[in-house]
Amino acid sequence: MTRQLTLLAQIPMIPPPISDPELEALLQRLEEEGIAHDAAQSEHRRKRLNLETPTARLLQLLILAARRRRVLEIGTSNGFSALWIAAALRRLPGAKPLITIERDPKRAAEARENLSQAGLAPWTDIRIGEATGVVSGLEGPFDAVFFDADRVSAPEQLSLLLPKLEADALLLADNALSHPVEIASYIEAVSQLPGFLSMTIPIGKGLHVAHRFQA
Ligand SMILES: C[S@@+](CC[C@H](N)C(=O)[O-])C[C@H]1O[C@@H](n2cnc3c(N)ncnc32)[C@H](O)[C@@H]1O
Repeated sequence: MTRQLTLLAQIPMIPPPISDPELEALLQRLEEEGIAHDAAQSEHRRKRLNLETPTARLLQLLILAARRRRVLEIGTSNGFSALWIAAALRRLPGAKPLITIERDPKRAAEARENLSQAGLAPWTDIRIGEATGVVSGLEGPFDAVFFDADRVSAPEQLSLLLPKLEADALLLADNALSHPVEIASYIEAVSQLPGFLSMTIPIGKGLHVAHRFQA
């Protein structure tokens, strides 16, 4: 797997699909700051743990290619992945703002600031609280959910979300390769869902992708 990841890292990345130099500069700055910030933090819970840029780019591409219009993100941090998702939603006719959940109010405030700076605040609805409680109060429907919080509670959120998913639904989860034990129950739960095709893409920390197709 290490060799596979090394090879992937050597593939030249396609340019971002969105031509917005200010947004690209902000994303690049946040990526660099996030890496430096996390390297200097010994406490795991204080880290930003942003997606790697190639994973964020793939996430954005999937949302655009599959024309997702009702997206939920679980695990906002300082809004790095939310910026990528919200920038996609802004381009899709009929899309609603991203709903993104974060339990740490300080992180949520940082995310709000970053999204405002990019002009993407109207495309993002940040909900502060424990993911499972927040999810139980959401109405839906959602056509894509990105799980990027604590992984262990993801199966609870998945079961609460099932009645709120559209028939054509995309489920995404990061850390499939970096935290295989923590994410195992989520992957097992997804594998039991009727009608979903799924796989782990070896990019970044491993992106698990599941899709229920509606003819
Ligand atoms: C991996 S980081 C998210 C990174 C973000 N998606 C990005 O790429 O920028 C996980 C975030 O989820 C939050 N989190 C973890 N468990 C949570 C839970 N059960 N409910 C709400 N937020 C949670 C953490 O505070 C942290 O900010």
